[in-house]
Amino acid sequence: AALDPADSTPLKASLAPERGLQTGEYLTSGQGVRLPDTDHSLKAGTRGPTLMEDFHLREKITHFDHERIPERVVHARGTGAYGVFTAYGNAASITRAGFLAEKNKQTEVFVRFSTVLGSRGSADTVRDTRGFATKFYTDEGNFDLVGNNMPVFFIQDGIKFPDLIHAAKWHPDREIPQAQTAHDTFWDFVSLHTEATHHVMWAMSDRAIPRSYRTMEGFGVHTFRLVNAAGETALVKFHWKPVAGVHSLAWEEAQIAAGVDPDFHRRDLTDSIDAGLFFEYELGVQVMPDTPDETFQGIDLLDPTKIVPEELAPVQPIGKLVLNRNTDNFHAETEQIAFHMGNLVPGIEVTNDPLLQARLFSYLDTQLSRLGGPNFNQLPINRPHAPVNDNLRDGMHQSVVHRGIAPYLPTSLGNGAAPEATPPDKGAYVHLPKPVKGEKIRENPASYADHYSQAALFYHSLSPVEQEHMVEAFTFELGKCYETPIRERMLTVLAKVDAGLTAKVAAGLGLPAPQDTTPAEVVPSPALAQVTDRVWPIT
Ligand code: HEM
Repeated sequence: AALDPADSTPLKASLAPERGLQTGEYLTSGQGVRLPDTDHSLKAGTRGPTLMEDFHLREKITHFDHERIPERVVHARGTGAYGVFTAYGNAASITRAGFLAEKNKQTEVFVRFSTVLGSRGSADTVRDTRGFATKFYTDEGNFDLVGNNMPVFFIQDGIKFPDLIHAAKWHPDREIPQAQTAHDTFWDFVSLHTEATHHVMWAMSDRAIPRSYRTMEGFGVHTFRLVNAAGETALVKFHWKPVAGVHSLAWEEAQIAAGVDPDFHRRDLTDSIDAGLFFEYELGVQVMPDTPDETFQGIDLLDPTKIVPEELAPVQPIGKLVLNRNTDNFHAETEQIAFHMGNLVPGIEVTNDPLLQARLFSYLDTQLSRLGGPNFNQLPINRPHAPVNDNLRDGMHQSVVHRGIAPYLPTSLGNGAAPEATPPDKGAYVHLPKPVKGEKIRENPASYADHYSQAALFYHSLSPVEQEHMVEAFTFELGKCYETPIRERMLTVLAKVDAGLTAKVAAGLGLPAPQDTTPAEVVPSPALAQVTDRVWPIT
């Protein structure tokens, strides 16, 4: 086995005191030397100077000087909790992933909720997308579902992510505004890059100011491919449905909460769990047939700016999550957790959605610098609960004492190497042998060109009061733009979504409504006519 036996017992992600740490009766240095005094530095006489020789002073200050790690490049502000996921078992017909397929199977999870744009210390109740990231510590390895509380994203291709975030975070000259979409660069980008329109509509809706993480939906956003025990595949979208229903704050409530208690959501989560009032969600899936064109009812399933309306494919519950345990140490657990789209288990595969494909690279890459090298999966919060037998060795912050001389395969020595690779029928992750073909090209499929029809669908699905809130949100946020041409350009984008909405926002901004209010042509998927299945019930 690759690990020191003392480290290879399936460690729970909770932080039980580790061997040799924080267990003695007396204050010691980091080297275990007992200390007589931690209040006075060692000086030459009572009036100094302080002596370099004072190893306790130097160790204490040096360690303190290095206490902070870089905050996440996005989603820096967050809070987390442990929970238990229980499978209903009905998902066995679509996936062989044991934690979903096995009836009543319980799996420990950690969930981190976050805002996207603000820094670590920013307020909770700002207008923003929220992250809803879940790590399932399954028997077959870790599976991470790294989702948001909105079902679509601003961009169709991950290569635009640095542009989006450079535009949406603070202005680089003065680092303002914190955690708000009310600024020139955000509106400049989304008015020029109109595939963002659908997400912008969600961001200007009440969904962007959740009342509580208890009353917030979560979405995997991308389409995933599930594989069952018989090797059959289906395309699915994942949904978290809060048992307490979906509720938002009114704008005025959000403003007051941000001032009175910037930790409003964080406190709500942790106080509720302390009081035994656990947060509950059902995991559901929309199941679509795995057709060669990867569309459903004319909707391109690889386009992350599109939803599949629930009327066309209902969300079918497959399990329940209860968040029931608070963290012991924010840094060790919430801050050091590392989610990654590539943490997959057998029965769950990715699709070719170009946003998802870029994410497969980005998370691990950023964590190499955020968490200081390649060994962050050894941190207690990231350790799988499944046995780990790898040939990964050394590197910064290596904490495992690997034994033997042959960490490679094949080997005839059998001395320190991981065991042989797992046969496919013994639970190995075998990628579906999907054919890959195509000319190298930097271009989107034609179906990605429709930027407005689902934005309009969303607006028209809102109740009158929700629509009124959206008018107020656009008026307020665009009203914070210094550049009038940007406001005007955004009005021309809105005009393609809804003329009434545009007229009200224009009036609020004191600008004329754009003349051309013809909605852009909806580009139909070529495969629309061929798709006949409407619903695929799972049993
Ligand atoms: C962090 C969701 C798109 C790069 C996060 C987090 C969530 C999330 C929930 C916070 C994770 C945590 O709590 O630790 C999403 C969703 C996306 C999306 C739902 C689109 C559907 C992207 C894209 C990229 C990206 C396209 C880059 C190509 C990152 C990075 C982090 C992050 C670098 C910080 C991770 C860390 O430091 O641990 N994202 N994201 N995201 N995301 Fe995304």
